[in-house]
Amino acid sequence: MTELTGLKVTVAGLGPMGRGIVRVFDAAGADVTVVDVDPQATAKGLETIRSEAAEDGVALRAVAADALASSVTGADLFLEAVVERMDVKRELLATVAAAGRDDLLVASNTSSLSISEMGRAFGDPSRVVGLHFFNPPTKMRLVEVILGAATSEAVAARADAVVRALGKTPVTCKDSPNFVVNRVCRPLYYEAQLLVAQGLEPAAVDAVARGALGHRMGPLQLLDFTGLHTHLASSETALREFGDPRYRPIPQVRGLVRGGMTGRAAGRGFYDYAVERPKDALDRVTSVREAAAGTVTVTGPDAGSLLPALQAGTASEDAPVVVYRCLRAPEDADLGAVRELARHRDVVVDSSAGEWLDVLPADVGWVRLHVAPRGGLFAEVVSDPTAHLAGTPGVKDVLEALGADSVDVLALPGLVADRLAHCVVNEATAVVEEGTATREDVDTALKLAMNHPRGPFELQEDAGTATVLAGLWSLTRTTGDPRYRPAQLLRRQAAAVAR
Ligand code: NAI
Repeated sequence: MTELTGLKVTVAGLGPMGRGIVRVFDAAGADVTVVDVDPQATAKGLETIRSEAAEDGVALRAVAADALASSVTGADLFLEAVVERMDVKRELLATVAAAGRDDLLVASNTSSLSISEMGRAFGDPSRVVGLHFFNPPTKMRLVEVILGAATSEAVAARADAVVRALGKTPVTCKDSPNFVVNRVCRPLYYEAQLLVAQGLEPAAVDAVARGALGHRMGPLQLLDFTGLHTHLASSETALREFGDPRYRPIPQVRGLVRGGMTGRAAGRGFYDYAVERPKDALDRVTSVREAAAGTVTVTGPDAGSLLPALQAGTASEDAPVVVYRCLRAPEDADLGAVRELARHRDVVVDSSAGEWLDVLPADVGWVRLHVAPRGGLFAEVVSDPTAHLAGTPGVKDVLEALGADSVDVLALPGLVADRLAHCVVNEATAVVEEGTATREDVDTALKLAMNHPRGPFELQEDAGTATVLAGLWSLTRTTGDPRYRPAQLLRRQAAAVAR
């Protein structure tokens, strides 16, 4: 017996999402009735649900096919997962309103349409709520509970309780384009694409996202997996709905979609699957090193954030190579210190600030060292023939001394990891600032839906608010692109820390 035992649920739409959702409710003890566009489609959908469940070694309990009006007459919960078209959902909701009980809970699995608008189409906006499952619903633990402008508190509470009774984790989100996960991840995808448009190879972007940020799949591999056409459509929605140019699609993606190169299913997207699998490409661009074997001197204004991560015996005052860790833009004093150190020893600057490109002395190396979430250290190494920047002998010594795996990157502002991470923190801050979701829910959502080891606000805490803010200002200055302007909430938080 579970809390859902005997709950009568109608699920409309038996695509991959509806089919998975049916199984989740069935497993939790609800009596589920399924509906697709006509009786044949419904029967076929139910058959597919049975065979998919059987493949996973699961037998369905109590799922039956029915027509919409008769099935909702006695239902407690109606959940629609029909095709993503407002006109179709509108018509469906009108039928449900005419046939359903007055206390029927009405939920939509839409990924982009407005819950408030659906509430009005239903005729009683207080009773309509979004229950946004992730794909595949049988495996993914997160459900975004979307509140329309007029969704009642009682309905929100019932929806939350249903999600918990399914064994899933709800996060609450106000009706807002892209909701939480897809919204906060927008800059992750945009920046990854821009890095490629600016000359970096896709595998390098993905390898850094995995190595430095601990993402299970790099953003470009993920886009290829979900389909570039789907991503492009949600970018267009975000741009239209927010009216902010920072959501504009990246032209290269439009070109790929127009060329039919929509990702893995098409055989070609950011990766060409006929030539090389992403995993092989990532292995090719990643230099793997043995355990730490040597010493380095660590100095500079941010030395304190690296030293605790070094293995015992690695840090030494008089090592032949010096890491000058200065994560913010260089000041005159930093340049003076680097030049002075470089008179006697090999020096490697550790920073992602794009301003170093203009001032880095010849023969000084440039890396960005990360304490990797999977353990150990991970390095981005600036190796940029166009800018006459190459990995110096000092860089090689540092990486060997620290035993850090590394990926070569171009001298682009923020390099890769900080650029991705700081932009995600900024977007997450905007989501909280406007009241769409709480900090805790944003972190939970990103960890559960994206498998990120740290949520955006945990990243902010790790890096320090001042460092994130400085990174965003540096991106703004060195690119001239207003997409990087920091959220006002972030500025206010950084000011509070400084005080
Ligand atoms: P799909 O387009 O593959 O399947 C939709 C199903 O709805 C089809 O079986 C279709 O015959 C049926 N349908 C169409 N009109 C209907 C009607 N009037 N009455 C009953 N059934 C009808 O869609 P998919 O991918 O399963 O997604 C369904 C919903 O879930 C959409 O709103 C989508 O935005 C959302 N969603 C999709 C995710 C994904 O990864 N595919 C993730 C989260 C949400």
